[in-house]
Amino acid sequence: MEFGPAHSSMLDLVDRWQREGTYPLFPLITQAATTRARIGVPHARPGSDDTHGRPVTVFGSADYLGLARHPEVVEGALAATRRFGTGTYGTQAVGGYTRLHQELETAVADWSGRPAALLFPTGMQANLGVLATLAGPRDHVFADRFNHQSITMGVRLSGATLHVFRHNDPAHLAQLLRTAGPPDRSGRRLIVVDGLFSADGDLAPLAEIADLAERHDALLVVDEAHSAGTLGPQGRGAAELCGVLDRVDVVTGTFSKAFASTGGFVCADADVVTLLRHSADAYLLSLGLPPGTVGAALAALSVLAREGTERRRRLQDNARTLRTRLHAAGVGTAGSAAHVVVIPVGTMDRTAHVTRQLAERGLMVCPLFPPAVPIGGARLRLGVCAEHTEEDIGHAAALIAAALAETAPQAGPAGGTPVRGTA
Ligand SMILES: Cc1ncc(COP(=O)(O)O)c(C=O)c1O
Repeated sequence: MEFGPAHSSMLDLVDRWQREGTYPLFPLITQAATTRARIGVPHARPGSDDTHGRPVTVFGSADYLGLARHPEVVEGALAATRRFGTGTYGTQAVGGYTRLHQELETAVADWSGRPAALLFPTGMQANLGVLATLAGPRDHVFADRFNHQSITMGVRLSGATLHVFRHNDPAHLAQLLRTAGPPDRSGRRLIVVDGLFSADGDLAPLAEIADLAERHDALLVVDEAHSAGTLGPQGRGAAELCGVLDRVDVVTGTFSKAFASTGGFVCADADVVTLLRHSADAYLLSLGLPPGTVGAALAALSVLAREGTERRRRLQDNARTLRTRLHAAGVGTAGSAAHVVVIPVGTMDRTAHVTRQLAERGLMVCPLFPPAVPIGGARLRLGVCAEHTEEDIGHAAALIAAALAETAPQAGPAGGTPVRGTA
């Protein structure tokens, strides 16, 4: 098959990393736990025995509150599977909607403090569904430059005009809101941001953004993927932390992080949810969540109603300790403000090398490459968890500092070949 230059340079990069023994993606998990795992190092060098995997401390997981192996969550998944089987075997509209799906809609709507909720197969589909349905070709969407890629994809599907504002820059957003779009202001306006940025670790200035949304009559959509369950006094996310819960119109999120399961959700007014339920293709054209997944998420929400405050406290204490230990070891964490701790590295090659070296030395982290981050801005993302110990954190900081010190920044081009699937 003939490939164009972009495809060829991607294939060349993968081939080179594999030959050099620095390929950093798809570590093969042979045994999993929240903070410990065994992984087979990807494309291990010839002769090495990685059949059973090597033990690693996990700092690359989004199981932030450590619920993925909580006995009640595991039992929730098992009981749901025993009762309803392994799949749903029909779209939700025509036979794949169980009592458990209905219960989870109610539970997640209650969690968010909104009248209604809808479940999507993934968080990515929730963003696609919301943007492609609520915006249309006559509308204008204002989006932070560093939003999750699924938001940009949703805007493209909608046919709306996309206005990208500089990251966390409400003044630039205000300027675009004043000047963008047709003079008669026809069409709806939507502002959409991540609550906690997945590749930068910083928080959106939601109070200022909510002011602008009100002033310019724009609908405010916040993706709480990384902040749902983890931020705010009741774990309702970045909007709760910033005191603007009632000023956000639509919340999207995922069960695949703090809620120890998988699947996406949207919480909003009843009319918005009814509209999405009957017209969002990303919802209607894909089968619903398997019952076990729904049972796990329901159980996680119920555990969090009891233990959430304490788990959130431990998570944020651990995040602070990790940042402090990294800084003390001379490692920068850019704007990281919570439990998504980001370490700028620079080139793709250096990031691949450091990730691979850490895996071989017993630490699993998540590398981020373009297009998930800007070209030249490859980085490591560490997911702290409520279950990490001080010893885990000290060990991770020391290994990372050593790996970075050993890999001097490379001169030359910043390594611009996009590698997909790393956000
Ligand atoms: C900010 C953000 N939104 C949405 C998603 C997509 O969620 P899901 O994994 O459920 O598709 C992710 C990544 O997982 C994310 O980081």
